[in-house]
Amino acid sequence: MQTVKLNNGLEMPILGYGVYLVEPKECERCVTDALEVGYRMIDTAQAYYNEEGVGAAWTKSGIKREDLFLVLKIWVTNAGEKKAYDSILKSLDKMQTDYLDLMLIHQCYNDYYGTWRAMERAYKEGKLKAIGLSNFMPDRYVDIANWVEINPMVMQLETHVFFQQKYEREWLDKYGAQIMSWGPLAQGANKIFNNETLVELGKKYNKTAAQIALRFLTQENIIVIPKSTHKDRMAENFNIFDFEISKDDMEKIRALDTGKSAIVDFRAPEMSEFFVNYTKEHGEV
Ligand SMILES: NC(=O)c1ccc[n+]([C@@H]2O[C@H](COP(=O)([O-])OP(=O)(O)OC[C@H]3O[C@@H](n4cnc5c(N)ncnc54)[C@H](OP(=O)(O)O)[C@@H]3O)[C@@H](O)[C@H]2O)c1
Repeated sequence: MQTVKLNNGLEMPILGYGVYLVEPKECERCVTDALEVGYRMIDTAQAYYNEEGVGAAWTKSGIKREDLFLVLKIWVTNAGEKKAYDSILKSLDKMQTDYLDLMLIHQCYNDYYGTWRAMERAYKEGKLKAIGLSNFMPDRYVDIANWVEINPMVMQLETHVFFQQKYEREWLDKYGAQIMSWGPLAQGANKIFNNETLVELGKKYNKTAAQIALRFLTQENIIVIPKSTHKDRMAENFNIFDFEISKDDMEKIRALDTGKSAIVDFRAPEMSEFFVNYTKEHGEV
């Protein structure tokens, strides 16, 4: 598997498997399938309520812990130095491991500076091999990168052919964080699987539109974590390294960028209320 080197020297796979909206009871089966297909990086979050499923799948797989790359995100209701630190210990327990390869702050809400200090502590203790952020827009990212002791290593953002994050990537490059895409298939938005450009290029390279979309991102040095509950699609999304999109064709895909989200605007103030209500509805994590 192709890897990218983070700013602390850690090698991270460029392709992984995400489990957002994978039901807790379905998660173990999905992660088992993904590991069988060949994925070695799994992305989950406290707020997905399926950490135990990831833990059960990897421990039963027989794959050595050092051959896996486990990613987790701390939820907004666990923000703050003490609460976040305690939640890291709880998550390690749920995922049956004594360290995580990457921990991210899920959202730029609540006391995220306190959360960052908790992650710095766990990082120094060896419980986290890398730490980073998710959904921090450039202004918030540059702010935190300037005021913390340990520079964030990764930024996970909505990134796909229709929202290529060109502006934010300039700031990430300047301060040294690696971009990681969530929603690399745009969660199916804008009829991505039938997009004319992607379908045409698919015919040329003998690949599907999904494979072209994912290969494009990895050629842009963007980490991707496509999600599917179907094993055949997991395999389809995994088989993207046996061809290369030409320079001219990369330009054609770059032209699909709309510069805006196809899914959600995390800057809307209503999101803060939504997150609190989400946890009330689903329970503490
Ligand atoms: N940091 C954040 O705030 C954040 C937000 C969202 C997601 N994420 C992470 O990013 C991961 C991926 O993003 P995502 O799940 O939102 O969206 P995504 O991977 O862009 O798209 C998933 C959707 O595409 C379908 N799909 C997958 N492969 C396909 C294929 N080859 N052909 C046709 N349909 C296909 C899936 O359906 P089926 O399952 O039915 O196949 C599912 O509906 C998540 O699982 C999660 O780990 C993070």
